[in-house]
Amino acid sequence: MASTRSFADVKDVIISAHKNVGLQDKIEFYNTWAENYEQDVAVLDYRAPLLAAECITKNFKGDKKRAIILDVACGTGLVSKQLKKNGFHHFVGVDGSAAMLNLARKTGLYQDLKQCILGRDSLLVQEELYDIVVMVGALSIGQVPVTVIRELWQATKPGGYVCMTTRGNADNREYKAELENVLRTMEEEKRWSCVAVTGVEEWERAVAEQESDYIQGAVYLYQRTK
Ligand SMILES: C[S@@+](CC[C@H](N)C(=O)[O-])C[C@H]1O[C@@H](n2cnc3c(N)ncnc32)[C@H](O)[C@@H]1O
Repeated sequence: MASTRSFADVKDVIISAHKNVGLQDKIEFYNTWAENYEQDVAVLDYRAPLLAAECITKNFKGDKKRAIILDVACGTGLVSKQLKKNGFHHFVGVDGSAAMLNLARKTGLYQDLKQCILGRDSLLVQEELYDIVVMVGALSIGQVPVTVIRELWQATKPGGYVCMTTRGNADNREYKAELENVLRTMEEEKRWSCVAVTGVEEWERAVAEQESDYIQGAVYLYQRTK
């Protein structure tokens, strides 16, 4: 279906989201954005689900058909959709927004979907079960706190992978540094090792006036050791 949304429409939505503070406000924002989400991120040229899926697919050494994937902050299901195209089959999704989860349910991709506000509720999934835990588009300022990264690790089976993304633009720079600090600390604790870090220049179209056409982003892939 052709998009009826203009870049100006999408810009207004994203800028309004930045006014929200607090986890619950952010979830409310996603509840209202859910219906237009996929059209709008296409207008933004949002490539994070594709890039994360590529990174996982290139580095995953196990049997893709049998791998169990936990898609955290799954939204409408864009990440699992890409992974399915790449040969993966088993998905469990988690998100805080009921409206996003309803759309994810309609894709028929997920064996189970759970509602959970990350950073407030614990991630209620079985520990050490998942071959791959992926979180795309939610590790950024005002969304999911970096403390949740340890919960992603906990859900991953030893030898399994955790794939995460973040933005590199000005308002997220401090958060990105915090996130990288946690990743490094957990590597020093020998919980995991870094498999790949990919910096991406054209992550998605910028909405803030002071930024150039595209903002930067990064994909991180870690393998759990113990
Ligand atoms: C930008 S969307 C990304 C969705 C999907 N991963 C993708 O790449 O299309 C961010 C998602 O994170 C969810 N989210 C944001 N903060 C959250 C929180 N604290 N707990 C649970 N979900 C959260 C939102 O409801 C939304 O579905």
